[in-house]
Amino acid sequence: MTAVHPAWLPDDLLAPLGSRRVRVLGAGLLVETVRAEIRRAVALHGGQLVDDPGSADVVLAATDDDSADGVEEYVVSRSGGVTTVSGAGAGLLHGLFHLVRLGEAAFGPDRPTERHAPAYPLRMLDHWDNVDVHPVMGQVERGYSGGSIFYADGRVRADLSRVAEYGRLLAAVGINRVAINNVNVHRREARLLTDDLAGVARIADVLRPWGIGVHLSVSFNSPVLLGGLATADPLDPGVQEWWARTTARVYEAVPDFGGYVVKADSEGRPGPFAYGRDHADGANLLARAVAPFGGTVHWRAFVYDHRQDWRDRSTDRARAAYDHFVPLDGRFDDNVVLQVKHGPMDFQVREPLSPVLAAMPRTHLAVELQVTQEYTGQQRHVCYLGPAWSELLGFRLRGPGGATVAEDVGGVVAVSNVGDDRFWTGHPLAQANLYALGRMAWDPASDPATVLDEWIAMTFPGAAPGIGATLHRIMDGSWRTYEDYTAPLGVGFMVRPGHHYGPDVDGYEYTPWGTYHFADRDGVGVDRSVATGTGFAGQYPPHWAAVYGSVTRCPDELLLFFHHVPYTHVLRSGSTVIQHVYDTHVEGVEEVERMVAAWAGTEGAVPDDVFVEVRERLAEQLRSAREWRDQLCAYFFRKSGIPDAKGRVAVR
Ligand code: GCU
Repeated sequence: MTAVHPAWLPDDLLAPLGSRRVRVLGAGLLVETVRAEIRRAVALHGGQLVDDPGSADVVLAATDDDSADGVEEYVVSRSGGVTTVSGAGAGLLHGLFHLVRLGEAAFGPDRPTERHAPAYPLRMLDHWDNVDVHPVMGQVERGYSGGSIFYADGRVRADLSRVAEYGRLLAAVGINRVAINNVNVHRREARLLTDDLAGVARIADVLRPWGIGVHLSVSFNSPVLLGGLATADPLDPGVQEWWARTTARVYEAVPDFGGYVVKADSEGRPGPFAYGRDHADGANLLARAVAPFGGTVHWRAFVYDHRQDWRDRSTDRARAAYDHFVPLDGRFDDNVVLQVKHGPMDFQVREPLSPVLAAMPRTHLAVELQVTQEYTGQQRHVCYLGPAWSELLGFRLRGPGGATVAEDVGGVVAVSNVGDDRFWTGHPLAQANLYALGRMAWDPASDPATVLDEWIAMTFPGAAPGIGATLHRIMDGSWRTYEDYTAPLGVGFMVRPGHHYGPDVDGYEYTPWGTYHFADRDGVGVDRSVATGTGFAGQYPPHWAAVYGSVTRCPDELLLFFHHVPYTHVLRSGSTVIQHVYDTHVEGVEEVERMVAAWAGTEGAVPDDVFVEVRERLAEQLRSAREWRDQLCAYFFRKSGIPDAKGRVAVR
């Protein structure tokens, strides 16, 4: 069997720490994790775990009693030839991995004292893993990295050593919660809540030493499905009692259980609407069940009509989350977190921010990101998402001078891209997305290029000089390159229905899913203005409502999200819409060709298995990018009759 790739924690990386004399002070589960890490490092690299205060080069000191829920901050200092890290609970563990990241730099001349604390207590990954293999979606819904690391043969895996390794990788980037099953809770997965608690508890036991709490996705219909009740009505006392009882049993099995994740009234999932109740009623039902135990309910705002009539141009999916949830602001219990996808649609390569993120001041909000590359190349394409996340977390939704999205929310939740694949993420370079997600959830102001530097240094320690520059060359701009050769100017989708890979311009155009581009012989785009369109632009605070509502002020990259314009419309860039489509698709493919050439130069400089895997995936990326280019250009030439002014695009 091929060994699992060590991702950003290869043994070599531990050399600076592992070759020293290290003292660990304190007791408790997380301090024991730190001690075990040091033991592993010194065994590999010839250092020593010491007790004697006088002889240590490094001191890791727990500052108070150890609890997984403790404060996560840590302090690093160096003086008199000794590097000291102190922190409480998980803080010490984060401090340990800070030392690992610093490498030799942690042991240079005296360093000024640094204090590090996460921006949020909530930094979570949602796994869309099914226990069973789903006939259409496979085991991991929208997963591109093999099967689930949690489940095999219809139950929680007997051997969870891979999950322990995962916990270690996540702890090293600062993730502290994991939801272990798909938000689409099918019958078998629903039973985790009642019939498989021993399995859930084993997963929690394996992740707890890494400071990671476990959450479950649950079906709103559980009282009926699992409890045999006649209703799941949130106001029914029997239903409330069922949730209270069931939840108490969960906490008996997992005392530090994080809580529930709920997708309700969304894409066919059951929810409170069936009983004439609203989503505050629904969320509070579960919130009250977990509240006595300190648990949280993550209620997803991804609620829209997926059975809409494409002939009806007034119904706009982009409006849905705001229309459903903003009127409920102030009604959610304190232990409810409303989990809001970053855009109003669905994790497209380019969307405006969801206006919900600035519209619910009396509700705890988390922004939901997608690390798994459903719409960004499915881990067959290189698409480093750090720059996209940086842009959206730093976006000032309330207008210039207002708070950033990162400041407006209380946490970051993201859909994991991990499976039982030997590289964890299918594409070896997609590991960088998981790394970046953790680092940016810890500090949303992180510079994505610096984060990528860190990832490169940790993943390829000792690689030939130049590898860093090549990886930056390939990855820094890869999100924009992907945008260039796929759906233009923010219009989104144009993917094959169902699996969502590859181009299909009209694939969703006459479907009930609400994802349209409205291309005709004269123009393309969705009029979401207040004046003449669906009114979605009016859901933004005044500054952005005015900008997005104006066809001349709207940023080019979002023009077709907000406006239906002629192909000859002149963009702010000076190009026309049709010429922009031709230019970006031709140039996007050329850029992928350059990525392929750059990667060829890394042969011998990165491990062979990584080299070969990335080379093969880049070949597929190039094939796919060409297909996107040819279909998009042909489609828009046929619609508009306007040829490429530069004569590069074949008239098909
Ligand atoms: C997308 C995705 C689904 C997923 C859904 C969600 O629509 O295609 O597979 O279930 O998002 O976030 O709930």
